[in-house]
Amino acid sequence: MKPVEILMQEHRVIEVALNCLEAMMERAQADGRLEKEPAEQIVDLIRNFADRCHHGKEEDRLFPAMVAKGMPQEGGPISVMLAEHDMGRAFVRQMAKSIECAADGDSAALAEFANAAGGYIQLLRSHIQKEDRILFPMADRMLDEEEQKDLLAEFETVETEHMGAGTHERYLKVAESLAARYGVSSAPVARAAAGGCCHHH
Ligand SMILES: [Fe+2]
Ligand SMILES: [Fe+2]
Repeated sequence: MKPVEILMQEHRVIEVALNCLEAMMERAQADGRLEKEPAEQIVDLIRNFADRCHHGKEEDRLFPAMVAKGMPQEGGPISVMLAEHDMGRAFVRQMAKSIECAADGDSAALAEFANAAGGYIQLLRSHIQKEDRILFPMADRMLDEEEQKDLLAEFETVETEHMGAGTHERYLKVAESLAARYGVSSAPVARAAAGGCCHHH
């Protein structure tokens, strides 16, 4: 697989998580309270799989490789992507902060959680589209075969050294169980698990 294909496969998993979060919010609003454990699981999944692992690969590996080939660091699509990652982090902090009270049925906390989750879902869906349609095809054209090979090896390092062996697979399982709980299709997760991610076993 090419580096951008790995990132796109991760996008499909992140989209499953977003669908779960959306279903979780709808159920919480109907019930008047948030389900604490799955809410904590999804925040953990977003923080580690989507942000630390996936955005880490983009911010620390892919984007610098593009900048090295002449993409502007400031005032271009890369700075927009970085700003959106930061906006996402702010939404996730807000979600994490309101889980406890929202799970106790506090309506203000529930509204705060729903607000942050809704903002995050909308932000990430459009962010993913921009990367899939514009930035990644650009990266694929910019980087030659050797550079893509190097990038693949760096992605592998992110998985094994920064995340820890087996972490990626563990989060795929969390995504699958949340999808089952909320009646969301987990087919993309199964494909990611079968197709292998960025590392060899
Ligand atoms: Fe991104
Ligand atoms: Fe991404």
